[in-house]
Amino acid sequence: MQEEIIKIIATDGQVVIREIQDADLSLMTLYANNPKVAINLRDAFPSPYTMDDAIRFKEAIDNQNPKTIFAIEYKGDYVGNISLSPASDVYRKSAEIGYFIGEPFWGKGIMTKAVNLITEWGFKTFDIVRIYTGIFEYNIASQRVLEKCGYTKEAVFRKSICKNDKLYDEIRYSKLKE
Ligand SMILES: CC(C)(COP(=O)(O)OP(=O)(O)OC[C@H]1O[C@@H](n2cnc3c(N)ncnc32)[C@H](O)[C@@H]1OP(=O)(O)O)[C@@H](O)C(=O)NCCC(=O)NCCS
Repeated sequence: MQEEIIKIIATDGQVVIREIQDADLSLMTLYANNPKVAINLRDAFPSPYTMDDAIRFKEAIDNQNPKTIFAIEYKGDYVGNISLSPASDVYRKSAEIGYFIGEPFWGKGIMTKAVNLITEWGFKTFDIVRIYTGIFEYNIASQRVLEKCGYTKEAVFRKSICKNDKLYDEIRYSKLKE
């Protein structure tokens, strides 16, 4: 049987960003199936999250060219996902970043490293000048991650988020290519 060759996007030795593989799907389901994760993400992120959701997600990624969604590995184990999606039309010089890691790994500085790695990789790889995202107002940890990575808080989109039938502000962050 031929071994799958997994492409590494970026690494600092401890945190690795690499392509998602079939072997990640059970841990992905375990970590994604957590309301404390889903509450911070768009409703397109299934909650509860099943193995079938993970399989469908992987199939969609397999059809991507170029790939924009990756696994985060910490000390050799899959811990979460990170994405960098180039935008289109007049926004084509921008890309949107998105991410989650499993709750057992929160607060260890992993996402700060992963965001730094993919930001540097994104500016080198895509013809973009800006990476951006929107954070729900209550997600202080994610705002802190972006601030630690040199992203600038650039706007508050007032009451633009409707999550679980309640309205929230979205805090927009971006980083420009140096
Ligand atoms: C948000 C998330 C990505 C953070 O990942 P992480 O690896 O725990 O982040 P880090 O450890 O690199 O940094 C977290 C920072 O937030 C701080 N923080 C965490 N919770 C906080 C809170 N309630 N109030 C203030 N600061 C908080 C931590 O202290 C740390 O800052 P510090 O280094 O200055 O102490 C992770 O919790 C997650 O995946 N959550 C669910 C999904 C999600 O929110 N995705 C992002 C959607 S925009």
